[in-house]
Amino acid sequence: MTRVALVGVGAVGGVMAAGLASTGRLEVTACVRSPLGELRIDRPEGAVEKVSIPQVLDPAQASAVDWVVLATKAHQTAGAKPWLERLCAAGTRVVVLQNGVEHRERVAPLLGAAARVLPAVVEISAESPQRGHIRLFNRPRIVVPEEDDGVEFAALCQGSGITVSLTDDFVTATWEKLCLNAANGAITALTTRRMPVFDNPRVAQLGRALVEEARQVATASGANLPDDLADQVIARLRTMPAESGSSMLWDRLAGRPLEYDARNGAVVRAGARLGIPTPYNDTVTALLEAVSPSGA
Ligand SMILES: NC(=O)c1ccc[n+]([C@@H]2O[C@H](COP(=O)([O-])OP(=O)(O)OC[C@H]3O[C@@H](n4cnc5c(N)ncnc54)[C@H](OP(=O)(O)O)[C@@H]3O)[C@@H](O)[C@H]2O)c1
Repeated sequence: MTRVALVGVGAVGGVMAAGLASTGRLEVTACVRSPLGELRIDRPEGAVEKVSIPQVLDPAQASAVDWVVLATKAHQTAGAKPWLERLCAAGTRVVVLQNGVEHRERVAPLLGAAARVLPAVVEISAESPQRGHIRLFNRPRIVVPEEDDGVEFAALCQGSGITVSLTDDFVTATWEKLCLNAANGAITALTTRRMPVFDNPRVAQLGRALVEEARQVATASGANLPDDLADQVIARLRTMPAESGSSMLWDRLAGRPLEYDARNGAVVRAGARLGIPTPYNDTVTALLEAVSPSGA
């Protein structure tokens, strides 16, 4: 049986764990820091799914698997190193379900030479109001590069209820998501306001500036994005339900560390490398750093 280990069984990882276990043809293990109990997934159509996944609490008890699904927050990646060291062997693929554009740079140094990273764009909208309880708001979809490992990951997920889309332009896919996140995560977390904050014209203008900087960096990085992306993003955010926010807003409200460095911080880093000024993203990165508690 193909062995799959999940590291980071929160909102996204919980949806993945339940989906992969439901195929009945995979040996799925949850690698957790403290006991999780039964997973409960509230699906958008109202169904409630409960599933028990075998759990390992100590990296020393983990052994090598075929696939690792890494779905911690980006700033929690280094903390997952003891798991990755035990779970990876020659040929292990590590699917990185995290936001941002630096999946390989962040994770590859933590793996042995023989394991490989498969970056992914996560189109799963979910929140975990308490450990083991996940509210899923959409039909889960993951986008991966159209390469051998991506094709095999799509086959792994068949029958899981999670759609895996292959793209021959992963650079565009990943930067498009980051352009959106550059505005919505930062502004909702800094203001502690939900999406209607973008109805304020000055806030909307700041959002456009954050997206436009990210778009310029994305374009110089090889992404193919429309010139009016910033207007499109703000228009989209303004049509979202009033109660919707962002995972950075939920983390800020809960007093947890914020995932700003993989988002606005990544725009600033890439901009510096490419000689593109990013003053708006630099400013919100500094403010998010100031309000984010340390730790993981
Ligand atoms: N949620 C969404 O709707 C969504 C959408 C698109 C993209 N994403 C991205 O997907 C990634 C995951 O987000 P999420 O919302 O699923 O985060 P989350 O709900 O905060 O889950 C993260 C999980 O990682 C676990 N974890 C952290 N460090 C660990 C360690 N050292 N060992 C084992 N487990 C560890 C946490 O466990 P504890 O319970 O022990 O803290 C938690 O269960 C992020 O990059 C996020 O930006 C999320």
